[in-house]
Amino acid sequence: MNTPALETERLILRKFTEQDMEALFLILQDEEVNRFLPWYPVKNMEEAKRFYEERYAAKYAQPQAYAYAVCLKADDYPIGYIKVDMEEHHDFGYGLRKEFWHKGIVTEAAKAVIKQVKKDGLSYITATHDRNNPRSGGVMRNVGMKYQYSYEEQWQPKNILVTFRMYQLNLDGNESRVYKKYWDTSAVHFIEPNL
Ligand SMILES: CC(C)(COP(=O)(O)OP(=O)(O)OC[C@H]1O[C@@H](n2cnc3c(N)ncnc32)[C@H](O)[C@@H]1OP(=O)(O)O)[C@@H](O)C(=O)NCCC(=O)NCCS
Repeated sequence: MNTPALETERLILRKFTEQDMEALFLILQDEEVNRFLPWYPVKNMEEAKRFYEERYAAKYAQPQAYAYAVCLKADDYPIGYIKVDMEEHHDFGYGLRKEFWHKGIVTEAAKAVIKQVKKDGLSYITATHDRNNPRSGGVMRNVGMKYQYSYEEQWQPKNILVTFRMYQLNLDGNESRVYKKYWDTSAVHFIEPNL
């Protein structure tokens, strides 16, 4: 139940390993790819290695986690990542090297990961994106997630005010469940029409 390897038509989804540091560096060093993410782009291989230790190796040591490298089948080389957290929010997140955008790769990976977490018994997943990053919301809608609400957060570590849109997908048939924590903890929250 920890990041079991998955295969889709074009992709292999698997754990990152210590052999993937160059690949991880290439994903994490890009300003644009990392703009809407809660960390700064890495500057060197040491920073990539630290990122791996803190955000991947630590998760692989847990009993259950979903923290995938997204690789093309042709070479099994990581070009992006996709994850579902095991905390109460079950936050769903992803990122991909720019050269590979606009080909439906993250949508394809996301569908496979959602199928797996559903099979493993997760009741729901949530995802949030900055209102200025609508393509991320496109992926959420592509996989059947439903917009629930928007909220403001003074976002760290970048310390900027962000309006997030929160999406949710219930996996256990309880269609009306809404994860309210972001709504409850944010002073500014609202529902945008027509989303
Ligand atoms: C967001 C990201 C992961 C998308 O990856 P991708 O593989 O190019 O996405 P997909 O092709 O599977 O799906 C995106 C699709 O959603 C659809 N979509 C639906 N509504 C959309 C909207 N309002 N705006 C843009 N796209 C929308 C489009 O069909 C879009 O495809 P296209 O723009 O390539 O034609 C990628 O751009 C990325 O890595 N961004 C930087 C990291 C990031 O922001 N991560 C999410 C943080 S919340």
